[in-house]
Amino acid sequence: MPLVTSKDMFKKAYEGGYAIGAFNVNNMEIIQGITEAAMEEKAPLILQVSSGARNYAKHVYLMKLIEAAIEDTGLPICVHLDHGDTFELCKSCIDGGFTSVMIDGSHHSFEDNIALTKKVVEYAHAHGAVVEGELGRLAGIEDAVNVSAEDASYTDPAQVIEFVEKTGVDSLAIAIGTSHGAYKFKPGQVPQLRFDILEKVEAQLPGFPIVLHGASSVIPEYVDIINKNGGKMPDAIGIPEAMLRQAAGMAVCKINIDSDLRLAMTASIRQYFAEHPDHFDPRQYLKPARANIKDLVRNKLVNVLGCNGKA
Ligand code: G3H
Ligand code: 13P
Ligand code: ZN
Repeated sequence: MPLVTSKDMFKKAYEGGYAIGAFNVNNMEIIQGITEAAMEEKAPLILQVSSGARNYAKHVYLMKLIEAAIEDTGLPICVHLDHGDTFELCKSCIDGGFTSVMIDGSHHSFEDNIALTKKVVEYAHAHGAVVEGELGRLAGIEDAVNVSAEDASYTDPAQVIEFVEKTGVDSLAIAIGTSHGAYKFKPGQVPQLRFDILEKVEAQLPGFPIVLHGASSVIPEYVDIINKNGGKMPDAIGIPEAMLRQAAGMAVCKINIDSDLRLAMTASIRQYFAEHPDHFDPRQYLKPARANIKDLVRNKLVNVLGCNGKA
């Protein structure tokens, strides 16, 4: 099974009322934990790489690890650039074998976002890759950029047809109240997503795949383990799983998850060291961390995304 684009995955997901998990990867243990869960659950998969991940691990290492995972699992896997911010970065990822890129022009004006996205789409389509664009701006932390709640803006459904027609994008990320990182809602706040916006976008673009960023649930059990074992995380509230399931049953075909992976890994490592303060072999603490990622991803695939058995 070679690397695939997300084209077929999204078509089936839209028709089947489920979503594909797009998990951020940074190293071997994360890739193995995710792909082992997907193999056992027979789930199609998107592995996504941010520019920070690429700087940390190097493009070639991540690409080879993902190729190894495909050989090992036999799964259809799409490898995607998360939050590409320039044409050059998108081009470099496509030239280096990625089958999908995101060009995130959401911080530009509508016209400049269209021009940049169109340029990336032309290059990607000429090279067999697909493109995700973004309209509207999420709050939260991505890479070194911290977008405050005041600077965030919901997607305007009146703009989506023009954006998709003028750019030729294959999928569209929209802002309906999710946000990046572990601190999405303040303690006491009731999480709300603007499903009315999603419905309007869906009505404007029937059959077109929509993407949700910032979709970690910030699982309280992990935050608890971190804080019981020397961590100092403030109370954190994420996106309730029921809301993600609702979105997956609508036009949302791709759901992005990174923070929950980080929490699963960190909780496991902190607990391990609290229980074994004298250990120093990385294999000893990375093994349970990888297993924790596998459990987390299995739960997402089966109970949140509904894409188990769809590979
Ligand atoms: O949306 C951003 C992702 O969580 C990637 O985070 O840029 O720190 O790798 P990163
Ligand atoms: P989370 O921080 O909610 O995991 O979002 C990840 C994401 O959107 C990656 O693009
Ligand atoms: Zn994102």
